[in-house]
Amino acid sequence: MNLSKLNGVNHRLKIGLILGLLMSMTIIACGGDKTEEAPASKAGSKGIGPVNSVTLGAIDQSMVDRGKKQFEAKCSACHKFEEKVVGPALQDVTLRRTPEWIMNMILNPVEMTQKDPIGQELLGEHLTQMTFQNIKEEEAREILEYFRKMDLK
Ligand code: HEC
Repeated sequence: MNLSKLNGVNHRLKIGLILGLLMSMTIIACGGDKTEEAPASKAGSKGIGPVNSVTLGAIDQSMVDRGKKQFEAKCSACHKFEEKVVGPALQDVTLRRTPEWIMNMILNPVEMTQKDPIGQELLGEHLTQMTFQNIKEEEAREILEYFRKMDLK
């Protein structure tokens, strides 16, 4: 048996293995970056609709009261806070969505469930289309204030 030839083969095999390892590490590293980015950008999404920017301050109790009235009149047939009815349970919604996304969902639910990735997922889960409740932007802001108050613990 020719030992020097065998060593030569082993050497090439090692280089091949190391190169392969490096390549797969690079692929894993790049892939890892992508999967880390996706949920973050989704979670930070403002959704699709008229609301681009909402400024939040301390909870405004008179807004909360008006928002609660609107909610009870126009939303409570389909939503509760602690359990799913027709639509999802709304407890902690201000923790899982941005203020802009919530207001756009209230003001533009059809486009949101057709084009926004989170909206599409929700429609897929709940299988009923949330309909526009003839809400003005100012009223949607008051409902958001009510949700913020409900999520305070
Ligand atoms: C006809 C039933 C119905 C009414 C009325 C309704 N919704 Fe919805 N809502 C849904 C459904 C169903 C979804 C899930 C998306 C879809 O399938 O359209 C949803 C989703 C939502 C979401 C997103 C929840 C999450 O987990 O991200 C919010 C916020 C919301 N609705 C708020 C409201 C508010 C505020 C009102 C009143 C102005 C309202 N909804 C009225 C059925 C309704």
